Amino acid sequence: MRLQVIDHPLVHHKLTALRRRETPSPVFRQLVEELMTLLAYEATRDIDVEPLEIETPVAKTTGTALSTPLPIVVPILRAGLGMLSGMERILPTAEVGFLGMKRDETTFEAVTYANRLPDDLSNRQCFVLDPMLATGHTLIASIDYLLERGAKDVTAICLLGAPEGIKALEDHVGDRANVTVVLAAVDEKLNEKGYIVPGLGDAGDRLYGVVD
Ligand code: URA
Repeated sequence: MRLQVIDHPLVHHKLTALRRRETPSPVFRQLVEELMTLLAYEATRDIDVEPLEIETPVAKTTGTALSTPLPIVVPILRAGLGMLSGMERILPTAEVGFLGMKRDETTFEAVTYANRLPDDLSNRQCFVLDPMLATGHTLIASIDYLLERGAKDVTAICLLGAPEGIKALEDHVGDRANVTVVLAAVDEKLNEKGYIVPGLGDAGDRLYGVVD
């Protein structure tokens, strides 16, 4: 597994605003979108492309186009949905599939409650969007799901990661698959409730309000 922490002053600046308790939902959503465009730019560095013959108004030349099959972007509902618009800005032609996962608040295990993805992902590059890599259970379940369906490689894009979750993911994935995790920051730890410290609180609630 490859881990990439994006060290950029604009990422630090936006993340600081995102973390603040008093940042209201509309601003929080806007910041997530902006952060995502910055992370997506780095996360797509190894995206598959092929040469394309084109004509400019002046001459013929060889350019570059995304290869087919096109990459697939998979936001993990609910909080990953907040990252989708930022990703679409960078990669508007990608297909989008959805995985709904929530964690059981006592065991912290990931429970799948929705799935709208092709069964066959052979040769597809997959980008999973999930803002918080906490225990790692949700990402482990999503990455396994995509690899079992033949994904060529998986890049998970997260805003924050806890060392515990990163280690769990690393131990699970090892070298058996082509998996990259792109993060804006690695925080200190998880608390006893499974929240990232200092973190930003519950990303889904901060994006969309509290739903029980
Ligand atoms: N999910 C969140 O939304 N926040 C955390 O801190 C951990 C998991």
